Amino acid sequence: MSAYGSAAASRAASRIRERIRATRPVAAIVLGSGLGGLADEIERDASVPYRDIPGFPSATVAGHAGELITGTLGGQFVVALAGRFHMYEGHDARLAAFPARVVHALGARTLIVSNAAGGVNRNWQPGDLMLIRDHLNLMFRNPLTGRAEPGDLRFPDMSAPYDPALGALAREIAREQGTVLSEGVYAGLLGPAYETPAEVRMLERFGADAVGMSTVPEVVVARAIGMRVLGISCITNLACGLSNAPISHAEVLETTAVAADKFKALVRGVVARLEA
Ligand code: HPA
Repeated sequence: MSAYGSAAASRAASRIRERIRATRPVAAIVLGSGLGGLADEIERDASVPYRDIPGFPSATVAGHAGELITGTLGGQFVVALAGRFHMYEGHDARLAAFPARVVHALGARTLIVSNAAGGVNRNWQPGDLMLIRDHLNLMFRNPLTGRAEPGDLRFPDMSAPYDPALGALAREIAREQGTVLSEGVYAGLLGPAYETPAEVRMLERFGADAVGMSTVPEVVVARAIGMRVLGISCITNLACGLSNAPISHAEVLETTAVAADKFKALVRGVVARLEA
């Protein structure tokens, strides 16, 4: 057993449980850069700053608040994580994925992950939402290396890392809401430098539709512990070389703000229809 494993997650979950309602969350939602506004849609019961959660460092990136929030969204009890631990901050892949173990220990069996991503697919525009159908792990790390945690699958099947039924539900809700939801492959890179034009051409040939610096570690662990995953990327910019403009984190946050309303409505709609 190691740091950020299942025992550490149980300890973190017991501490969190002292501060939240004793109900199993129907879903856990990881809020990506600039998408933290969804937290305001939750009728809050409680919020627990990351500094009060054993094993969680305080989040450091602009656009990430660093708190765990519980409450009601779409009529269902949810837990939301505002703030992520990125590998580009120097964190281990196990820590990047640790929040998935913690929400699992709290009883959540559905994980909704969101992120800001650069558009590699030339059909897409900043502000589009993309349902993640599959991913490429180009972080060159896997959070499952080392001794297998008790309860983990040693060799998790990755033939459908993103749950097809949840994806179908998201497509249906998007259609009802008149939101265009494209669908594609998310490439997770280590960062923190954005990609070079040559790297973006490589990603295109690899079959990526979007590129970002998160999500993959959480999803890998979620599959190893049997959680169902829904992933949504907010396309914030055209990946490097696909437009003449340089990329900035400020632009990423501005675009997520524009897309935030449809993102919030989509996630709320999906959560409302999950089996309790
Ligand atoms: N590349 C990597 N990560 C990102 C990007 C990008 O272009 N946009 C938002 N996150």
